[in-house]
Amino acid sequence: MIWRGLLKKYQSYLPVTKLTPELTLYEGNTPLIHLQKLSKELGIELYGKVEGANPTGSFKDRGMVMAVAKAVEEGSKSIICASTGNTSASAAAYAARAGLRAIIVIPKGKIALGKLAQAMIYGAEIVEIDGNFDNALKMVQRVSENAPVTLVNSVNPYRLEGQKTAAFEVCDQLGSAPDILAIPVGNAGNISAYWKGFKEYNIENKTGLPKMFGFEAEGAAAIVKNKVFHEPETIATAIRIGNPASWDLATSARDESAGIIDSVTDDEILEAYQLLTRKEGIFAEPASCASIAGLIKQCKKGVIEPGSKVVAVLTGNGLKDPQTAIDQLKVEPVSLPNDEDTVINYIEDVMKT
Ligand code: F0G
Repeated sequence: MIWRGLLKKYQSYLPVTKLTPELTLYEGNTPLIHLQKLSKELGIELYGKVEGANPTGSFKDRGMVMAVAKAVEEGSKSIICASTGNTSASAAAYAARAGLRAIIVIPKGKIALGKLAQAMIYGAEIVEIDGNFDNALKMVQRVSENAPVTLVNSVNPYRLEGQKTAAFEVCDQLGSAPDILAIPVGNAGNISAYWKGFKEYNIENKTGLPKMFGFEAEGAAAIVKNKVFHEPETIATAIRIGNPASWDLATSARDESAGIIDSVTDDEILEAYQLLTRKEGIFAEPASCASIAGLIKQCKKGVIEPGSKVVAVLTGNGLKDPQTAIDQLKVEPVSLPNDEDTVINYIEDVMKT
């Protein structure tokens, strides 16, 4: 069957009516890739759900297509969101597609370059604040209460509806739910959406339920520490969030599934970032690698039974954040003159080592 996007494919599971426009950028249908080397090293059967393959390079497109389609259906002319980057890129793209105005509020200096470039080129109106994501979210919530503009952060229930489709795909790709679903946690919408999706699919198709393993960054580990972080900090800017909006839904997902929510350090995230690229050929952005880092930590602790079937959600594309990749380089590229003999001699010498 030709892929025609999420609203078509999962229509019967979604709040799609006759009046919902057929909006799509052909989001969803992302690869589930067996991570062979990491599986072997960790003694588990590990898969990566590569959400960076979505049209704007992150899982946000799943929720955004639903939220923007409903905004159009309800007659809205503008959407607004706060963002650590990916939500704004996705909102800007779907707003452009649907002919709506997009207004985004972002923390100044804390958005990965690729994400900012996306929001700009798709034509969003961008407000930068000298504050963090949590401050920005409060502001856009207030605006949307008073002005005729639709809020498309994950507090908009249509966002989670769209995002739950990733759980459906995982079940279809594996034939059933995995034993464990590992996922980064920022504002905590995605872990809540996956859990909702697994439950709904299980009722319809008897696909089973995974344990939900969520991972926050240590410098932004509000749920783990059970306290708001007023100044969250992490290299994984996408999850630099100190007061997650879906906090209660996330702890319910954890508790109902007999899972865990734990934290990982920036060093652990960066180690996973390099393992994933160098051993598996998959370039996911730093926040995405919190899921891999968390699994490595739990395997070391003996929490995960050997042989378990585990899916790690790789939420965003590594190209979004080129600076973090470049900063990992320990050696500079070799710079040579444009001279065939010099370059060939150099490479031949290198290949002898
Ligand atoms: N991974 C990436 C790449 C993200 O962009 C986000 C969230 C998360 C994980 C965490 O997901 O918030 O549902 O727990 N990014 C939001 C944004 C906050 O504005 O783009 P969550």
